[in-house]
Amino acid sequence: MELHKESSISCSSAAEGYLIDKMNEIKIFSPATVANVSCGFDVMGFCLDNVGDEMVIRKIDKKGIFITHIEGFDLPYKTELNVAGVSALAMYDTLDVDFGFEIEIYKNIKPGSGIGSSAASAVGSVFGMNELIGRPFDKTQLTEFAIKGEALASKCEHADNLAPALFGGFTLVKSVAPLQVLEIPTPDDLYATIIHPQIEIKTSESRAILPKQVDLSDAITQWANLGSLIHALHTGDYDLIKSSLNDVVVEPHRSKLIPLFDKVKTASIDAGALGAGISGSGPSIFTLSKGQEQAEKIKEVMQNIYTVTDIDFDIHVSKINTEGVKILN
Ligand code: HSE
Repeated sequence: MELHKESSISCSSAAEGYLIDKMNEIKIFSPATVANVSCGFDVMGFCLDNVGDEMVIRKIDKKGIFITHIEGFDLPYKTELNVAGVSALAMYDTLDVDFGFEIEIYKNIKPGSGIGSSAASAVGSVFGMNELIGRPFDKTQLTEFAIKGEALASKCEHADNLAPALFGGFTLVKSVAPLQVLEIPTPDDLYATIIHPQIEIKTSESRAILPKQVDLSDAITQWANLGSLIHALHTGDYDLIKSSLNDVVVEPHRSKLIPLFDKVKTASIDAGALGAGISGSGPSIFTLSKGQEQAEKIKEVMQNIYTVTDIDFDIHVSKINTEGVKILN
């Protein structure tokens, strides 16, 4: 994006010295994401390629943040009650500008699906605004604004969906306060297959059923798996990815909420998936595979299991998206 000196306006201390771009409107794609990745509850996530929301962000003369159009799902228009609005306000409140923003939301990711619906909304507004004002904020700062929107939906501040949506690829949120996001390499041939049974599981509810304490032996297994998953992603070791995708802390509790979870997981792994687990807080189930052909085969396995039920479902095969949220026009 070009910067235009003649239209520069100074803003807050956080954004000192940046230039306002002449562009007044931007259309963006904000991707779906898979959080937790089995062994990395609340810290690990990856970004999907072809599933996501579109949003239009527009700079306007009137001060403030206004949600002017929503398509796809019934979400609140009031800025303070809308995830995209809350994250936008978190950024806007740090600016000292005499203009405002309108936000249009074209929602494709069903809220409560477990593939980062609220994160896509929270990320899209701040990413788009940042582009329109000449990118004064880096991705970590954008994640911090987006956390405020995500917290409206899930009732707690976590960034394991937000970080991959903003950074792309695999991310590890090392800490939330202060926010530290680590970008983890993505092996070239890694594909995800995601099935989304059309039942809603609210993140807040699926968090409420988790135990407050964990057995030390389970904790040891879990952090060994997370450490080895990170190592496997760095080294492109698919066998190690396979043996690391194991969750002994959260999945045993949440899997009870997802019809046929055990059957899908076992059948997918038997058919050659590297692993299978709950995507975020569910109900979506993700698998990782080496190669697109294998991922398509897992798609068939998953859909064969759900087709004989009366539960509607969506199913996606996606390369890991290493770019994250992006401009469409
Ligand atoms: N880490 C979160 C959870 C992701 O599993 O509750 C969902 O927002």
